[in-house]
Amino acid sequence: AQISINSQQSKKISNMLTGVFFEDINYAADGGLYGELIQNRDFEYALSDKKGRDEKWNATMAWSGDFKISKDNPIHPNNPNYAVVTKGAISNTGFDGIALKANEKYDFSIFAKGEKCTVKLKGANGETLAEAVLKPAISWKKLNAVLKPSKTVIDAHLEISTTGETSIDMISLFPQKTFKNRKNGLRSDLAETIAEMHPKFVRFPGGCVAHGDGLHNIYKWKNTIGSLESRVPSRNIWNYHQSMGLGYFEYFQFCEDLGAEAVPVLAAGVPCQNSSDGGAGQQFGIPMEDMDEYVQDILDLIEYANGSATSVWGKKRAEAGHPKPFNLKYIGIGNEDLISDVFEERYRMIVKAVQQKYPKIIVIGTVGPFNEGTDYNEGWRIANDLKLPIVDEHYYQSPGWFINNQDFYDGYDRSKSKVYLGEYASWGNKFYNALAEALYLTGVERNGDVVAMASYAPLLAREKHVQWNTDLIYFTGSEVKPTVNYFVQKLYGQNPGDVYLQSSIKLSDTNNEVSKRIGVSAVQDNDSGDLIVKLVNLLPVAVTPSMDFANFSTAENAAYTLMSGNPEKTTARPVTQKIATKEAFSKELPPYSFAVIRVKMI
Ligand code: AHR
Repeated sequence: AQISINSQQSKKISNMLTGVFFEDINYAADGGLYGELIQNRDFEYALSDKKGRDEKWNATMAWSGDFKISKDNPIHPNNPNYAVVTKGAISNTGFDGIALKANEKYDFSIFAKGEKCTVKLKGANGETLAEAVLKPAISWKKLNAVLKPSKTVIDAHLEISTTGETSIDMISLFPQKTFKNRKNGLRSDLAETIAEMHPKFVRFPGGCVAHGDGLHNIYKWKNTIGSLESRVPSRNIWNYHQSMGLGYFEYFQFCEDLGAEAVPVLAAGVPCQNSSDGGAGQQFGIPMEDMDEYVQDILDLIEYANGSATSVWGKKRAEAGHPKPFNLKYIGIGNEDLISDVFEERYRMIVKAVQQKYPKIIVIGTVGPFNEGTDYNEGWRIANDLKLPIVDEHYYQSPGWFINNQDFYDGYDRSKSKVYLGEYASWGNKFYNALAEALYLTGVERNGDVVAMASYAPLLAREKHVQWNTDLIYFTGSEVKPTVNYFVQKLYGQNPGDVYLQSSIKLSDTNNEVSKRIGVSAVQDNDSGDLIVKLVNLLPVAVTPSMDFANFSTAENAAYTLMSGNPEKTTARPVTQKIATKEAFSKELPPYSFAVIRVKMI
C-alpha cells in the first residue's frame, strides 16, 4: 500500500478525543470502582431497588447472623435503618466475598452504641485473618480500627460479635491503598487501569443512570455529597442499589487525579423514556412549576465545582477537603432522550439558564442514538437552533457498520455544533471488534476538527453482575480483566495529536471493499513534538506500506507498537519495540493488525 502523508495539508484537531464514559452499570460503582468492601454497609437495601419482587433484596442483604433491623433514633434521617445485634455475631460477605491482600492495611469503621464488639476478618473456612476490639459508648459514636489480614484470600467475610445488645450502622472496610491514597477512595487496580488509558475526560454518572427510571429516580447530585451517612441512597435504573459513596466529590477528585476534564451529564428535566412507568415521565417531565428549582440544582453543581470556598456550594466542596475550585469546563444536558415537546421545553430552559449564568461553561446537548433517525434529526434541529457548542451522539453497532461508516463525519457541517461521541461500541470483545473500532477511530481523528470527544461505553463490568454486553474492562473482587478493545482505546489515549496530517492510501487492488479495510491516521502531538502514525489492517492478508514522508525530518529510531492476532480471539495485546524509523515506515502489517508508530520530528 502506498501511503502518503502530507505535512503541507494539516488541520488542528481536538486534543481530547479519547476519554471515558463512567456509568454505574454492571456494579461499576458499589462493588466496583468505589473502594468500599462491605455490601449494604448502611442496611438501606430495599425491595424497591429492584424491579420485580426478590424477597432476599432487603435491608439485611449480604448480612447474616443474630440481629434485627431498627429505625428508632438512627444516625441520620437519610439513613434510617440500622442493625441491633442481640447476641452472638453478624457477618457480611461483601460483594461475592471480600478480597483481601496479606499484610496490607484496611481501615475499618463503624457507628455503634452498646456493648464491647470484636471485629474479625475471616476466611471461608472460618479462620481468623485479622481482629480488633472496639468499645462503643451508650450513644452513637464512630469507631475505627486498622485490620491487617494474615493471608491473601478472595472470599473472606467480616464478622462483628458483641457481648450484649449493640446497635451498628455504616460498617465500612476500605483498603488503605486506594487510588492516590484518597480516603473514601477508589479501588486502585481498577483506577490505575483507567488512568493508563490517559483519558482526557470522564463522563459521569451515565448513561441512563443520569436521567433515571421515572421522575423520582432522576440522579440528584446533591444526594451524593457530604458525610457518607447523610447521603441519600437510591434505586439504580440498572436494577440494584446505589449507596452514593462514589458521589460528585469523589468524581471531581478522580478527574483531577487523572488530569482529565470532568463531563457531568444531567437529566434534561425528563427521566429515561424506557422508564418502568412506561415512559410516562418523559411524557410529563418534571412539572413546570418545579423546574426553577431543578434548574437551580444544575447551577448549584457548577458553583459546587467552581465557586469560591465562601459561596454556598463552594463551601461544601471546601468542607469536603477541596478549597480550590475543580475548574469544571463542561456540562452535559440530557442523555439519549426522546425528543418530545416536553423534553424540548425543559431542555431549552436548562441550557439557556446555564449559558446565561455561566457563559464560559461549554454545554453539551443531546441528539441521542443515531439509529433512531427521527429523534436524532430532531435533536440536531434544536442543537442548531440553540447553537450548542457540542452535542452528544450515541451508537452501538456491528463491526461491519463501523467499517462501512468510517467516513461518518467526513461530510459533517463544520459550521454547526461539534460532536461528543459519548457512547459507542461494536457489540463484541473479539479482536475483530477492537480492530473495527481502531479503524473507525482513524476516521474520528481525521474528523477531529468536528468531533471533539469520543468515549467507548460502557467502561466497567463486574463479573456475575453484567447487565450490558459488551464492556471495556471486566473485573472480579481481586482481578482486573481489560478487554482487547481496551488496548485499542489505551493506544489512542496514549497517542493523541493536536494536528492532523492529511493522509491517503493507494492500493494496487482498487476494490473498494479491500480499501475500506485499511485505515491510516497521522497526527502531530504538540507536547512531545512527535509524529504518530496509526495503521489498521483488517484484511486477512499482510500489507506492506510504503510511506512517503518527503516533507518530514524524523529521528532515526521510532517506537513501533503492534497488536495482531486471530480476529476471533480476545488475546491480542500491544507489543512495543524500538526500531529504525525507516524500517517502521515500511514494515509489513500482518493480517488483522493495528500498529502505532511514534517518532520525534526534528
Ligand atoms: O451504556 C449503556 C446504556 O446505553 C446507557 O446507559 C444509555 O445511555 C445507552 O442506551
